[in-house]
Amino acid sequence: MSIKILLGVSGGIAAYKAAELVRRLGERGAEVRVVMTAAARSFITPLTLQALSGHEVRCDLLDPGAEAGMDHIELARWADLVLVAPATADLMARLAAGLADDLLTTLALATTAPLVLAPAMNHRMWLNPATQENLARLRDRGVRILGPAEGDQACGEWGPGRMLEPGEILDALVLGADSQLAGRQVLVTAGPTREALDPVRYLSNRSSGRMGYALAESLAARGAEVTMVSGPSALAVPHRVELVAVESALEMEAAVMARIGACDLFVAAAAVSDYRPQATAEEKIKKNQAELHLHLVKNPDILARVAALNGGPFTVGFAAETRDLEEQARTKLAAKGLDMIAANLVGGETGGFERPENALLVLWPGGRRSLPLGPKARLAEALSDLIVERYLADAASQDS
Ligand code: CTP
Repeated sequence: MSIKILLGVSGGIAAYKAAELVRRLGERGAEVRVVMTAAARSFITPLTLQALSGHEVRCDLLDPGAEAGMDHIELARWADLVLVAPATADLMARLAAGLADDLLTTLALATTAPLVLAPAMNHRMWLNPATQENLARLRDRGVRILGPAEGDQACGEWGPGRMLEPGEILDALVLGADSQLAGRQVLVTAGPTREALDPVRYLSNRSSGRMGYALAESLAARGAEVTMVSGPSALAVPHRVELVAVESALEMEAAVMARIGACDLFVAAAAVSDYRPQATAEEKIKKNQAELHLHLVKNPDILARVAALNGGPFTVGFAAETRDLEEQARTKLAAKGLDMIAANLVGGETGGFERPENALLVLWPGGRRSLPLGPKARLAEALSDLIVERYLADAASQDS
């Protein structure tokens, strides 16, 4: 199945590079549809991009003819990825503000696909605090930014603001057979589990699933076939991720073990309930006793089970600690036989459950890296990069 890319072109001199980008995306097997802003048409004609993409180029939000075909909501739904190249300072400002004042910004708001920007502008505009603030806001929402590069600019000046070359953008997008995780099967657990006490009550925890969902999304964007076994979560299923919905730890374990044979990489981001009621009452428990004692039994440790498999996948676990972070996490890494562990401090001022931000200390046998405090979407990107780096290093050492 080819990846469907919606290419947004905004009005900067680098818009001429969009032609080569469309051609080369097509060569890599992507299906491309192009949307241009009004200003982009001053730099390159829709006809050029139409000829190269093989599809009508869309420019206007209020175009009855075009809307009668694939309307803008369908177009937003169609895309697996929205790439804006070049992204001007004005476009970034409008995206950061959440405006929907033309077709491209409307599509960016309406899509659930990952958004990737390749900025291009004069270096003073790039370094202006207004642009830098917009950039930070977009990054915090999980928007991926490619570049800009530093170099000679069309205005004759030198500095950061030059759009990456189409080849560099393609490499960063890692499409098709070239992608870092192409053909690899990844299994992610996410969210909390619910352990039923009776037909209406359960034991659970405050996990939102945010970290697991963000990781599943960013690993899928790196080309992996991602299946996510998730406990109940209000979050939308990320693009190109297959969801297996479960409730209890035992259901999660069964869903994982049924799929682990084919899996290359296992990321356990779920907050699995450590205990479950020994028995689930068939009828609703009545309040006719002065005290109620729950008898809990231990749930299986899914991560430890997977890590103990002979010839099993590369395993990544999480650890939440209230003190001695590195020491405790290193002990867990060894005790469970993991390839990597991402540990965070809970109970303090920084991060943890129900907080949008987190910081992680990532450990593996013989190595460590700190990922500083940041929004979970941004942290998930950094952690994905590190997982891919370690996974590929491990796979290479096993081949040699
Ligand atoms: N995990 C799991 N199955 C369980 C419990 C935990 O797969 N039954 C996974 C989690 O998804 C996470 C890691 O194991 O990746 C957390 O390990 P755990 O030992 O439960 O960490 P803590 O909850 O921090 O442990 P403890 O309370 O023992 O410190």
